[in-house]
Amino acid sequence: MRKFKIGIIGTGAITGKHADAINEIENAELVALCSSSPERAKAAQDKFGIDTYSDVSAFLTHPELDIVCICTASGHHMEAGLLAAKAGKHLLIEKPIEINLTRADRLISACEENGVKLGVIFQNRFSADYLKLKAAVQEGRFGKLLMGNAHVNWYRVPEYYSSSPWKGTLEGDGGGAFMNQGIHTFDLLLDIMGDVKSVFAKVKTSLHPIEGEDLGAALMTFENKALGNITASTALYPGLPERLEIFGKCGSAVLEAGKLIQWSIQGEEPEPIVTDTNAGSGAADPMAIGHALHKAQWKHYLNALKNDEPVLVEGNMARKSVELIRAIYKSSELEREVELPFLDHA
Ligand SMILES: NC(=O)c1ccc[n+]([C@@H]2O[C@H](COP(=O)([O-])OP(=O)(O)OC[C@H]3O[C@@H](n4cnc5c(N)ncnc54)[C@H](O)[C@@H]3O)[C@@H](O)[C@H]2O)c1
Repeated sequence: MRKFKIGIIGTGAITGKHADAINEIENAELVALCSSSPERAKAAQDKFGIDTYSDVSAFLTHPELDIVCICTASGHHMEAGLLAAKAGKHLLIEKPIEINLTRADRLISACEENGVKLGVIFQNRFSADYLKLKAAVQEGRFGKLLMGNAHVNWYRVPEYYSSSPWKGTLEGDGGGAFMNQGIHTFDLLLDIMGDVKSVFAKVKTSLHPIEGEDLGAALMTFENKALGNITASTALYPGLPERLEIFGKCGSAVLEAGKLIQWSIQGEEPEPIVTDTNAGSGAADPMAIGHALHKAQWKHYLNALKNDEPVLVEGNMARKSVELIRAIYKSSELEREVELPFLDHA
């Protein structure tokens, strides 16, 4: 069996989840790593026992690489991605695709120009309960959608920010609780509810000594005329499981930490809410998430490559959550409603 040969750029917290996922997939092999400093590269070489580089251009000359996975600070995805695309490598990039739309668009164009497949990690798209919810909405079982809410009221200890100095900075993280943490659930909300027409938001820094926001709320109108509200935080001790709430004319459902905890459709027999999902929640600990859903997304991505099929979370889809968050920041700054489509220079 032909194995896809994979290299990862960035050797921080999330890299281990990818390595564990890749190691469990039959037709995949992790062959190389790249870190931004020789010391971290050496530590990664000791830990993973595979070829490790401290320079992206040198890493890209590895003779076997088919796919590059980018796990660097969010605001550094683009530079590595442009080099990898130019070298003809397929790309699977950690969320967010990038921290603003100009940088996301450069990445998307480079992948198109170089004929490589771009996927973005939003592993919660692959939870069995989320897929059940999405299918039911698509089949119209909840009726016309009236409201969709996403709440990511999490907590992070101070060391979370002090141990990764890019986190919570505008340059490295593009913001705070919305761009880094909330984005997972906002992506699900957009996938179910469709595009946003306008947003009115307020974000602030309330607890942590960071540049980005650690608390915020937004009210949205979707293109389909439904309303929605979202909240996100890393300041709300002890951190509650993230929630996605979908309300239609015929019923409603709530997904909490990847599990359906509420499911009612008028005129339908109650369904047992059986869940085979154990995704975990990053409510208080970012690494409490396991690697099962990363593995599911890797399997999907490799299958799409093998059969030359579309990738579920491709660049333009992943761009939507960044666009919403950028519009939220702008609305908070201007203290008025902001319309979408939104451009960074708007
Ligand atoms: N899907 C998820 O659930 C999930 C969870 C955590 C993090 N993430 C994402 O993964 C990415 C990394 O997050 P993390 O928590 O692992 O961060 P981290 O701080 O633990 O690690 C970041 C790594 O990137 C390296 N790095 C930073 N700038 C670099 C550069 N310019 N070139 C090469 N390497 C560079 C650092 O040396 C470090 O090894 C972020 O985009 C984050 O949003 C996703």
